[in-house]
Amino acid sequence: MHKREISLTVNGKVHELAVEPRLSLSDMLRDELRLSGTHIGCEHGVCGACSILLDGVPVRSCLMLAVQADGHEITTVEGLSNEDRSPGILQEAFQDAHGMQCGYCTPGMLISAQALLTANADPSLEEIKDAIGGNLCRCTGYTQIIESIQLAASRLREAG
Ligand code: FES
Ligand code: FES
Repeated sequence: MHKREISLTVNGKVHELAVEPRLSLSDMLRDELRLSGTHIGCEHGVCGACSILLDGVPVRSCLMLAVQADGHEITTVEGLSNEDRSPGILQEAFQDAHGMQCGYCTPGMLISAQALLTANADPSLEEIKDAIGGNLCRCTGYTQIIESIQLAASRLREAG
């Protein structure tokens, strides 16, 4: 099958590459761009582990083709770090409030939390539950994930 030329911005960097039309966006991010922070769980749009931001909106990258991302701006979990690659405020809050155990769901949780906190600096408990409602976690029981997001929100507000 003929490859298609695409151009997209990932974590602030422009990438131009040729991809098979059937290649999923999640496989492209992991295999072509080597951004393996985006996890693949179900590949059916159920678990949310593969979540990324597409033009600021959380989407499941396993349900999109790479060619559909042509011309768009993507943020993966790697893009949530500081410029020196140290953990960003949200990532640090997950670490400090023990918001992960095996870590499989964590990139997707972080992406959903990032989208929430960008739109809402002081989310209620219900708003946090709603924001991560499409992300499955087998380990934590969700309580520490919610506490991590609350901690991040308060630190982000303090940081202005
Ligand atoms: S791997 Fe995409 S939703 Fe599960
Ligand atoms: S920490 Fe293991 S699936 Fe969430």
